[in-house]
Amino acid sequence: MNEIQQEILALKKTRNAVILAHNYQTADIQEIADHVGDSLGLAYKARDAQADIILFCGVHFMAETAKIVNPSRTVLIPDMDAGCSLADSCPAEELGAFLREHADKNYYVVAYINCSAEVKALSDVICTSGNAMNIVSKVPADRNILFVPDANLGEWVQQKSGRSMQLWEGSCYVHMEFTHESILRMRDLHPGTPVVAHPECTRAVRMLADEVCSTEKMIGYCREHPSDQFIIVTESGMLHRLRREVPGKTFLAGPTDTCSCSDCRYMKLNTLEKVRDALLSNTPELVLSEEVRAKALTPIQRMLEWSL
Ligand code: 13P
Ligand code: SF4
Repeated sequence: MNEIQQEILALKKTRNAVILAHNYQTADIQEIADHVGDSLGLAYKARDAQADIILFCGVHFMAETAKIVNPSRTVLIPDMDAGCSLADSCPAEELGAFLREHADKNYYVVAYINCSAEVKALSDVICTSGNAMNIVSKVPADRNILFVPDANLGEWVQQKSGRSMQLWEGSCYVHMEFTHESILRMRDLHPGTPVVAHPECTRAVRMLADEVCSTEKMIGYCREHPSDQFIIVTESGMLHRLRREVPGKTFLAGPTDTCSCSDCRYMKLNTLEKVRDALLSNTPELVLSEEVRAKALTPIQRMLEWSL
């Protein structure tokens, strides 16, 4: 542990804070976190947190989710500008207008957790990449589903479940950077190495993968699989988590056409200095209107119940 990491651990105690970090955070932040995980796992940790402060090292919609499920805690985020291109691709006003325009369809809105609190408030149930198949399978068969905001994840669920859905045309810019050609080249360089891809990747990339799953499920898959080397097609922070949790195996980053890996510029806005400063100053604090929070809670609770 370096000096600043030790300072954070001490501050965490005096401030009675819990640090939650997404799998895409840098190694030094993952090291000082109480829990590292995917969106679903961290939503449970946030809901059950007893500490006065939840310091969420991830992006804005994740900190919002923590506040929605555990409003009596102070929720801090190291950098308020840590947004998400996927969440931005579905503004609540546009979703509201779409639902009004297609009121005759009486859509059941399934929203991937990567969206704003206002979009959650307009939705019927939330899902994550870890439970999307399960959640969609529980939507009454006689309802038309509108899946927002990730068209790639929605298409993957549609393909696997056979359930047809109206897809919102949103995407994550990080996963869109992987191409069929970039992964094909990597596979040719490492013949026989299993390719593990996140469902936010395009169909052209997913079709090259031996396994498509959420970040958390990647750990179990790589642990159980007999291969001792894997090509991981998701944000680069995941490599650190895998190397820590599955020692003795080799994890290669899936490359893009221009780079040897893909980094999320929003996730990477968080730094150890900002984590320390947030604990020192109790800012930036995530604040939500009670009206939006209460409306957004219902579909999240439905997800948590349906995931049991
Ligand atoms: P999860 O596997 O946690 O759903 O991560 C995907 C992602 O892009 C989070 O921003
Ligand atoms: Fe959003 Fe993609 Fe970054 Fe995740 S990796 S926070 S989906 S931009």
